[in-house]
Amino acid sequence: AVAAAVVPAAGRGERLGPGAPKALRELGGVPLLVHAVRALARSRAVGLVVVAAPADGVAEVVGLLDSHGLDGKDIRVVAGGATRQESVRLGLAAIPAEVEIVLVHDAARPLVPVEVVDAVAAAVRAGAEAVVPAVPLADTVKRVEPNRGGPEPVLDTPDRSTLRAVQTPQGFRRETLAEVHEKALTEEAAGGLPPVTDDAGLVERFGGRVVVVPGHEEAFKVTRPLDLVLAEAVLARRRA
Ligand code: C5P
Repeated sequence: AVAAAVVPAAGRGERLGPGAPKALRELGGVPLLVHAVRALARSRAVGLVVVAAPADGVAEVVGLLDSHGLDGKDIRVVAGGATRQESVRLGLAAIPAEVEIVLVHDAARPLVPVEVVDAVAAAVRAGAEAVVPAVPLADTVKRVEPNRGGPEPVLDTPDRSTLRAVQTPQGFRRETLAEVHEKALTEEAAGGLPPVTDDAGLVERFGGRVVVVPGHEEAFKVTRPLDLVLAEAVLARRRA
């Protein structure tokens, strides 16, 4: 079964500094979003890519994908939402009913190797309902009582060997992903749960099983200005 991929790309990316929406910032002269879509389209496991663009930028994103030679692929662009979760839900709604495997990939992870995309799709095909690529942590992590700007009391130090930093694409049985997004919407309307920062988090919240497969250091998320410097260096190394 061929998978479809949703790319939430409607975020402002304020932590990256002022400027265009994050997905449209350039890396090696090419928008982050174009890199991300290419990385997905390169996988033989992916037959369709749905991009959730900023609501006022749909036409611009269509033009951008065309001008970077992606007009031959099956790519659709829809208007994204106010939150990442809403953008994913809107993207998911544009995927034909017969597609059984859905990947969700951040536009902000432009350099994900195709092997990671393939491995996530394969794990869903092999029977997992939710799959996330992840890497071990380099830093020790502490839980604190948040105190913005001031000293923060440490609560405890989780055993690092049991922690993973999760990446995308995350892969799902379509039915599972649609169901948890639907439930999240209902609960939100009923007074709300704290937002989750990834789709697998929704599956966990509603009692589903999520498994981790190996991610890749080059699948890092471009969030802060230094990440762009690193991404440029990775790209230059690939082109060398
Ligand atoms: O802000 P963060 O780095 O967590 O964003 C992760 C991804 O979610 C990005 O690709 C961003 O464009 C997307 N997003 C979205 N719609 C929003 C907010 C974020 O599609 N309203």
